Parts: sequence; structure tokens; C-alpha cells
Amino acid sequence: MTKIFAHRGASGHYPENTMIAFEKGIENGADGIELDVQLTKDGHIVVIHDERLDRTTSLKGFVKDTRYDVLKTADAAAGHQQTVGDVRVPLLEDVLSWAEKKDFLINIELKNSVIRYEGMEEKVLETVKRFKIEERTILSAFNHESLALCGRLAPHIERAVLTSDVLYQADQYVKSIPAAGYHPKLHSPAVTDEVLQQMRNSSIKVRPYTVNRPDDMEHLMKMRADGIFTDFPERAAAIAKKLNRTN
Ligand code: G3P
Repeated sequence: MTKIFAHRGASGHYPENTMIAFEKGIENGADGIELDVQLTKDGHIVVIHDERLDRTTSLKGFVKDTRYDVLKTADAAAGHQQTVGDVRVPLLEDVLSWAEKKDFLINIELKNSVIRYEGMEEKVLETVKRFKIEERTILSAFNHESLALCGRLAPHIERAVLTSDVLYQADQYVKSIPAAGYHPKLHSPAVTDEVLQQMRNSSIKVRPYTVNRPDDMEHLMKMRADGIFTDFPERAAAIAKKLNRTN
């Protein structure tokens, strides 16, 4: 069955990478959540997609130049104030302390391909272990050196290669990290029916991003993709229900 991941939470209707978006994602039928992490100036792991605060918060500047005591004052509602009120940029531990009591999958994307964030891997792994959610965590990154380092530090936690590029012998490449998952960009040559089949033959899990159109959702579910990332988990859940009924 294709697992549905709420991409940055249910970010189609709620402010991305906030607690309300994650809660709504699960409430609306997702099997898991996807979130992005960066490090503050004083080394806190915060859940935010961009290197800069400008697009999604009321503050400006780089996350890496901002202390957490300042960052936590930011309004992260990003245009959704009327529906969600006051929301903050969560710490990774805020999300995991909620997730620890539940049973869904958690994809943590390390956003370290623009800024390297020395020590990020160790900090993220320590947090995942502290909340005892290793078995339902998938670590992903566009920085594949970082994924390889995660593999050396915590080989038992699943890793997935994120890419928008076409990789030469993608199955061999993913195995060389080593990683068990492949997260390609939808509508790129990195994800075709042939690639899906090739990866399945190599027991690599394929989860394309970001799948928001119902016809793409249905196609990938019929192709038995292992997962999809979507801003609209309720759409994907409705299609999964319809397909299960007709199968
Ligand atoms: O992890 C899937 C997707 O989130 C990767 O792209 O740009 O949203 O981090 P991006």
C-alpha cells in the first residue's frame, strides 16, 4: 500500500512545518508526516524549510544567524493568521514529543545542502533516539554525504536519497550510500514507471514528491509506489479509499 506523507504537514491548508499542519495531516488521513530541519545560531534544531526566515515567518534573516530565544518569538502563520491564530516555528523535539505518543511515520529532511550545519546529524540522531522513534523514522537529504554519515552513526535508522536529478544507475547509487529509499521529484525523468520497476526489483522504496494532483496520486498508487509526499493528504486518502474499494 502506498503510504501518504503530509508534506511539511497538511501544508495545502495550514502553515507549513507547524504543529497545526502536522496534526491536521494525521487527522486528515496521512500515514506519516514530512518535516524539514535547520539549526539556529545556538544549535537548536528547528522545523523550517528555508535557510532564511523571511518567507514563512514574521522575522528576517538566516536561521543560522538567529538565536532560538529570538526565533521562538516569530509568527509562523504565514498568511493563515485568520484560520490558525498564533503559531510558532517548532523545535524538532516539540514535534517528536507529540509523535512519540502516536504511531505514524516521520520523515525528517536534513536541510544541509546549502549550509552544511556541522554536527547536525549527531543532534538529529540524538533527538530521534531520545524519543525512541527510530523504527518509524526515515532520514532524507539532498546532501548524500550527510546521509552516508547518518548511516555510519546510526545504521539502523532508514535513510532515503532525495533528488531532482537523474542519477546514473540510480539503484546502484542508492545502495552505495547505503540507503533503503529513493525520493525523486515528480514529473522529472528521475521518476518514471521504468524507474519505479527498476527500484522495486532492487527492493528500494520509492516515494516521489510533491504529488498534489489526483491523477498523479492515483497513477502512483496503481503503480504501487511505496509512498507519496503531498500537501493535500485528504485528497490522497480519498483516492486510496476508492482504489481499495474497487480492488
Ligand atoms: O522530502 C520531499 C520534499 O520535501 C523535498 O523537497 O524542497 O520540499 O524540501 P523540498
